[in-house]
Amino acid sequence: GRVAVLMGGTSAEREVSLDSGRNVLEALRARGVDAFAVDGIPALIDAIRAGKVDRVFNILHGNKGGGEDGVLQGLCEALGVPYTGSGVLGSALSMDKIRTKQVWLSVGLPTPRYVRLAKGDDVHAAARSLGLPVFVKPSCEGSSVGVSRVLDEADLDAAVAQAARYPGELLMEQLIVGDELTVPVLGREALPSIRIVPKGEWYDYHAKYVSDDTRYLCPGLEGAEEAEIRRLALAAFDAAGCSGWGRVDFMRERATGQLYLLEINTAPGMTSHSLVPKAARQVGIDFAELCWRVLESSLK
Ligand code: DAL
Ligand code: MG
Repeated sequence: GRVAVLMGGTSAEREVSLDSGRNVLEALRARGVDAFAVDGIPALIDAIRAGKVDRVFNILHGNKGGGEDGVLQGLCEALGVPYTGSGVLGSALSMDKIRTKQVWLSVGLPTPRYVRLAKGDDVHAAARSLGLPVFVKPSCEGSSVGVSRVLDEADLDAAVAQAARYPGELLMEQLIVGDELTVPVLGREALPSIRIVPKGEWYDYHAKYVSDDTRYLCPGLEGAEEAEIRRLALAAFDAAGCSGWGRVDFMRERATGQLYLLEINTAPGMTSHSLVPKAARQVGIDFAELCWRVLESSLK
């Protein structure tokens, strides 16, 4: 059947999504799939109405016009079109970092302490309650868009103003001193973890997509620790109602080795810098095979 590779859209991650989407499109075509590009949800609706779409490969990142917040998934359910990745619940929940944390905490999964910031809240009191340094994040963005690392209380108001430019709520999160790790999930299995070693202080948008100085170690951990991070990734994925494929982001505290869950990405990046393809390669799954397996996840 014909596969619409859904990309682009109007979210802050539009450019990342176009980059991911072009790669996926090329890979599916190389595997002989009758695949074509669709930019954004309105264009997808037109293509479905025209009877052109048998299946959707969703690589539209972000919320509000992005494909990661459950809206696209509900649309496809309503129209009876199969799609890759998590369903309505897992997508909507994972797009919201605050509520994802609430679910994880309720089942005893570890995540850094945080404060939900509402308009008019005393952000300085919040920072003191967590203890600096902290991250200030929009609750519903991706690719570190709008995220600031705050070491000094003098920079707090600017960080909050920056995060408030994006839709949805804000959170302030305890900064875990240590390593950033991620675990891709493909089908029912966790792929090897990747440890990310950015050249700068943290893995921001530039380190994610622009810089070639970021180093990646895969597997990111050894022995029992590697087994534990994969177990936690699957538990976190399951607790959030996710399925198909995704990527679970972590911090590992240097002083204690404690792992903390940060968030789940339900339509993770597939750019040349992206993480899921690196972990897949480590276990002998090339990019085209990876895209094929993700496409199979639409057969749920
Ligand atoms: N949100 C970006 C696309 C990622 O997680 O890879
Ligand atoms: Mg994300």
